[in-house]
Amino acid sequence: MGKEINPFPVKGYISKEYFCDREKELNVLLRNVQNGVNTTLISPRRMGKTGLIFRFFEMLIDLGDYKTVYVDIYSSRNLSDFIKLLAEAIIQKFPSKTPIGKSFWNLLKGLRPVFTFDAFTGSPQIKISYQSESEKEQTLQQLLAFLDGQKLLVVVAIDEFQQIANYPESNMEALLRTYIQPLKQVTFIFSGSRRHTLMEIFSSSSRPFYSSTQFINLEAIDCDVYKTFIRDKFERGKRVIDEDSINFVMSWTKGYTFYTQSICNRLYPFKKITPERVKAECNDLLLENESVYLQYRNLLTQKQWNFLAALAKEESVTLLYSSEFLMKYRLGSPSSVQGIVNSLIDKEMIREQIASGGTSYCVYDVFLMRWLQRIY
Ligand SMILES: Nc1ncnc2c1ncn2[C@@H]1O[C@H](COP(=O)(O)OP(=O)(O)OP(=O)(O)O)[C@@H](O)[C@H]1O
Ligand SMILES: [Mg+2]
Repeated sequence: MGKEINPFPVKGYISKEYFCDREKELNVLLRNVQNGVNTTLISPRRMGKTGLIFRFFEMLIDLGDYKTVYVDIYSSRNLSDFIKLLAEAIIQKFPSKTPIGKSFWNLLKGLRPVFTFDAFTGSPQIKISYQSESEKEQTLQQLLAFLDGQKLLVVVAIDEFQQIANYPESNMEALLRTYIQPLKQVTFIFSGSRRHTLMEIFSSSSRPFYSSTQFINLEAIDCDVYKTFIRDKFERGKRVIDEDSINFVMSWTKGYTFYTQSICNRLYPFKKITPERVKAECNDLLLENESVYLQYRNLLTQKQWNFLAALAKEESVTLLYSSEFLMKYRLGSPSSVQGIVNSLIDKEMIREQIASGGTSYCVYDVFLMRWLQRIY
């Protein structure tokens, strides 16, 4: 028998067995792909976008009619990096021995690339030298047109898409839009966590991508569904876990995917899980992370840090500039707080939650929030 897998992964995607719910989102994604509609997938960090993309790709592969390409552009700084990452993702998907892989290598050869292999993963890496900007643009068009010409339906997911807003090329959106629009066989998922940036790209009428995609806002997994999933995984692993323990996990992590997974991952090695055990693990986790939190404190100004601690104490605040909140924690005037709030949002230390009932604010990292609540 192989080594037992911890059924609560905290990074990467294993398989649907370890993936909770998201049925609604999977259905929307499938409907979009079947109808040739591109999707913009938005959620706060660590809510489960990348997991959902991989789960969806697994579903498409089971259906059999699709090829999938996943590109993470987090590390990209410009159009050349984007092209490089896209080309590497295509090579990974279509190995050189397959007919499509062969014709892709032929296309690449025309671009005079230099190939290397990642020393750790062994995956191919490409370096392309360009003579001019227009050569670059042409290469991007060729790559996308190549995918469209394969008599296959292809779904391309571009993760961390907000990154393109930082590229020095001011025409990146227009270029992509122009090359994507004529494609018949390829649909796209644009995914990211910077809501403001993505909304500007996709829903501002002056921008090239205006109204060209359907939005999915990924929120926390339904609490009851998540609880059933957690109970089931512990029981299958022959663990004993009581209802109070599961409730404690869900409320302490606010049912926020990464944080819930992290605590469950730590609890899984124990055969019997009680609320005392859960509390002890939560405590240990905060202690282990303490040096990181202290480092955050060094990186923020005193006023920013005080504001973060006040917000943590309240857990979630709707009226951020109300005199009640500002006076309770002696945070200063609304005008001085505004700059602090904007900068903390920009640093992804504070999360803005937009809902029909109004916008509320909370500390982005749930564990940091719990730690701040404890020490202040
Ligand atoms: N539906 C799910 N069921 C169980 N675990 C999940 C689910 N979705 C995501 N996860 C897990 O939660 C963690 C965070 O998910 P993921 O990396 O997909 O988030 P993300 O939104 O892409 O984050 P980021 O914006 O930082 O890239 C991962 O460990 C992943 O395995
Ligand atoms: Mg991700």
